Amino acid sequence: TDMFTYDPGFMSTAACESAITYIDGDKGELLYRGYPIEQLAVNCSFLDICYLILNGELPNSAQKEEFDQTVTHHTMVNEQMHFFLRGFRRDAHPMAVLTGLVGALSAFYHDSTDITNPEHRHISAIRLIAKMPTLVAMAYKYSLGQPYIYPQNNLSYTGNFLRMMFGTPCEEYKVNDVVERALDRIFILHADHEQNASTSTVRLCGSSGTDPFAAIAAGVACLWGPAHGGANEACLKMLEDLQANGGIEKVGEFMEKVKDKNSGVRLMGFGHRVYKNYDPRAKLMQETCKEVLESLGLQDDPLFKLAMEVERIALEDPYFVERKLYPNVDFYSGIVQRAIGIPTSLFTAIFALARTVGWIAQWNEMLSDPDYKIGRPRQLYTGYSAREVGTIDTRK
Ligand code: CMC
Repeated sequence: TDMFTYDPGFMSTAACESAITYIDGDKGELLYRGYPIEQLAVNCSFLDICYLILNGELPNSAQKEEFDQTVTHHTMVNEQMHFFLRGFRRDAHPMAVLTGLVGALSAFYHDSTDITNPEHRHISAIRLIAKMPTLVAMAYKYSLGQPYIYPQNNLSYTGNFLRMMFGTPCEEYKVNDVVERALDRIFILHADHEQNASTSTVRLCGSSGTDPFAAIAAGVACLWGPAHGGANEACLKMLEDLQANGGIEKVGEFMEKVKDKNSGVRLMGFGHRVYKNYDPRAKLMQETCKEVLESLGLQDDPLFKLAMEVERIALEDPYFVERKLYPNVDFYSGIVQRAIGIPTSLFTAIFALARTVGWIAQWNEMLSDPDYKIGRPRQLYTGYSAREVGTIDTRK
C-alpha cells in the first residue's frame, strides 16, 4: 500500500491539467483563460464569459452575435419536464429539484450522445448553459404555485432569467438594469473556479464516459453542501440569525463563539482552501452589493451593515489573521440576491446555474485529451486481513 500517496482532501494532488482557470491563492488572483476577473467583470457579459471559458478566447462581435443567438435558441426545455417537476413536493429544496431536473435532461437528447464527437459535446454544452435558467426559474415558480413563464428570446440571458423568475402572465415584466447587471456579475464571478469539489466531481463522473447531463447533475449534487455552494445560503441565515439576536451589538460575542472550536460554529462566507488572501470575487461582490442596495433604496440594509462589521472585526482579529481567513465570494452574494428578491433557498441553485459553464468546459477539456483515463483513486486499507466466515452460532 505504501506505493500510494496518502492525500485526504486532495491538499497536494493535481488530478488533471487544465488551461481554463488560474488561481493564485496567496495573491488573491483569479484569471479565466488568462484574463483577470476584475477586467472581465466590468467589460463582459456572462455569455461572453461562457464563450471565453468554452472556446479559450473572447468572442469578436460576429462570434458574439452568433453565440448569443445559439444559446437563446436552446432556452426552452421539453414540455415533458413539467410532468417530471410535478412529482416533487412544492416545498422541496430547490437543489433537490434541480439535481433531478438536470439529470432528467439526459433522457431527452438522443441526437448528441456520442461523447467522442466534439460537435455532440458542444451542443450538450450549449443546451446546458441555455436551459439552466429555465430550469431554476421553473423550480421557483413551481414552489410558489405560479404558472411557468416561458423564455422570451429578445431579452438578454440574465434579463430573460429575471423575467422567468419574477414575471407573471398578468402583466408585462420590466427588467431593472441595475438588477440585471448585478445578477450577471454574480454569474460571471461564479462561472469557473478550477478544481473545486463540484468540478472535480463532474470530471470524475464524466471520466467513466457517462452522459454529460448526468455528469452535471453530479456536480449540482456536490455543490449543494454548506462547505461549498451551500455556503451562500448558510451565510445569509447566519447573518439573519445574528440580526434577530441582537444585531451589531452582539457581533463580538458571536465572533468569540466562532473562535471557540468546541462551539461547532464557523463563520460562513469566510475562509477558502486556495485563497489565503482576500478572495477577488468577494471584493467585486461587495462593490455590487453597495451599488444594488443604493439603487433599490436599501442602503441602510441592516444585514449589509452587519456583514461589514463582521468583516471589519475578522480582518483585525488574530484568529482570522493567523489562519489567513478572508471573506469569500459567498459573503456578500447572499445580500445582493436577497435585495433583488431571490429567496435564500434558491441561492445555491443560482450558483449552479452560473457554474454550469465551468463544469461543462472542464468536462469537455478532459474528453478532448485523447489520453484521458477513468478517475480511479486508490486507498490505504485499514480493515481486517482475510478471515473465516464460520457458522452463525460462532458469531458474537
Ligand atoms: N470560521 C472559523 N474558522 C475557520 C473557518 C471559518 N469559516 N474556516 C476555516 N477555519 C479555521 C479552521 O477551524 C482551521 O483552524 P485550525 O487550524 O485551528 O484547526 C483553519 O481555519 C483551517 O481551516 P480548514 O477547515 O482546515 O480549511 P479547509 O481548506 O479544509 O476549508 C473551507 C476551507 C472553505 C471549507 C472553510 O474555510 C469553511 O468551512 N468555510 C466556511 C464555509 C464557506 O464559506 N464555504 C465557501 C467556500 S468559497 C465558495 C465555494 O467553494 O463554494
